[in-house]
Amino acid sequence: MNNLISSLFNFDKKRLNQIEKKAKEVDALSSKYRSMSDDELKAMTPQLKERLITSSLDDILVDAFATAREAAYRVIGEYPYLVQIMGGIVLHDGDIAEMKTGEGKTLTSVLPVYLNALSGLGVHVITVNEYLAQRDAKWMGQIHEFLGLSVGVNIRAMTPSQKREAFLKDITYTTNAEIGFDYLRDNMVTDVKERVLRALNFALVDEVDSILIDESRTPLIISGGQRQTANIYISVDKFVKRLVEGEDFEKDVKSRVVTLTEAGVAKSEKHFQVANLYDLKNTNLVHHLQQALKANYIFAKDVEYVVQERQIVIVDQFTGRLMPGRAYSDGLHQAIEAKENVPIKQETSTMATITYQNFFRLYKKLSGMTGTAKTEEEEFLSIYNMRVMEIPTNRPIAREDLPDAVYGTKKSKI
Ligand SMILES: Nc1ncnc2c1ncn2[C@@H]1O[C@H](COP(=O)(O)OP(=O)(O)OP(=O)(O)O)[C@@H](O)[C@H]1O
Ligand SMILES: [Mg+2]
Repeated sequence: MNNLISSLFNFDKKRLNQIEKKAKEVDALSSKYRSMSDDELKAMTPQLKERLITSSLDDILVDAFATAREAAYRVIGEYPYLVQIMGGIVLHDGDIAEMKTGEGKTLTSVLPVYLNALSGLGVHVITVNEYLAQRDAKWMGQIHEFLGLSVGVNIRAMTPSQKREAFLKDITYTTNAEIGFDYLRDNMVTDVKERVLRALNFALVDEVDSILIDESRTPLIISGGQRQTANIYISVDKFVKRLVEGEDFEKDVKSRVVTLTEAGVAKSEKHFQVANLYDLKNTNLVHHLQQALKANYIFAKDVEYVVQERQIVIVDQFTGRLMPGRAYSDGLHQAIEAKENVPIKQETSTMATITYQNFFRLYKKLSGMTGTAKTEEEEFLSIYNMRVMEIPTNRPIAREDLPDAVYGTKKSKI
């Protein structure tokens, strides 16, 4: 084993031991909390809040977890296992808890969500779709409400005032897409009173690998008015297709830049009947030429994009997945549409944009859970400064998980 891996491994082991020790402190309070009446248990919330005035969240973790654990048992009849308490500690620490599917990540989240919500600064539980947000808000929300905390759901169909109300709750369940757009819209309001979000405090992201890694570079875009007509794309495309590489233009494959040669510039001036291509009044034309050159000589069909039902669909260069509905900006998308001879969509101007990666880094604390993250550990660490902790299963796994086997050809696979 190489040194880095073994030192990471030892670090994980040591940390897991510390986490287990802490989880056992929570477990040791079992009978004390079991013997409380409902009212006594509910009274823990104001008591813990009061302790927070002079102490930190870490200081009250053991009691807060024990409270939420007992409340979960009383409200939904499920008592978090020791490994779920461990997962909860990892989440509170702003890291990633890797727990195998079916181990009960949803219940695990209740412990750190309750603890962090005691600060009153807002906790966001982020899921991949609205069905899950609504399910978890209802399912887990009743535990928090039993303990006197307020719970809200933020979904697309809501009005700004409903959203604002949802984000004023102690705990808010929502999706990554919806809260991302709320953030963009908040940045476009003319009066800060119109904003729906408070300062971004703590987010707990379910299925964290799909949101923070797979989709991380996906930009969220709010578009504004329309800009160009289709004609110019087509006429520039036709012209560019007749140019000869090495003669009219040079291509630098590595930096993905195409530049017109002197001969190319002269041809353009003649074709578009302008005296000086690089005159200020021709900037628009130069821009279209640039995009058309890129579309024709840099962007390759079936590599960067595919043509599907007479539409250009972008291929994510990191995952290889199709991204329907996404478009290149700055007229490049239209230039590719002209190149492939498909209908040209109106270009819209971008009013506001952010990637999930940059959005989630705005949180004071970020944590996540998933069934599989260890393979992306390096990315989580370098981009988000989050460690991935593998939480053992509650009982030994009967299923045998084998590593992926990749073959060069179909024949060798069979
Ligand atoms: N401590 C517990 N006691 C009893 N049942 C539990 C406990 N924890 C979880 N469960 C049950 O286990 C099931 C799976 O839980 P959950 O959906 O949260 O798993 P998950 O880890 O999120 O899985 P996935 O990776 O598929 O999303 C649920 O039906 C839940 O009610
Ligand atoms: Mg789940």
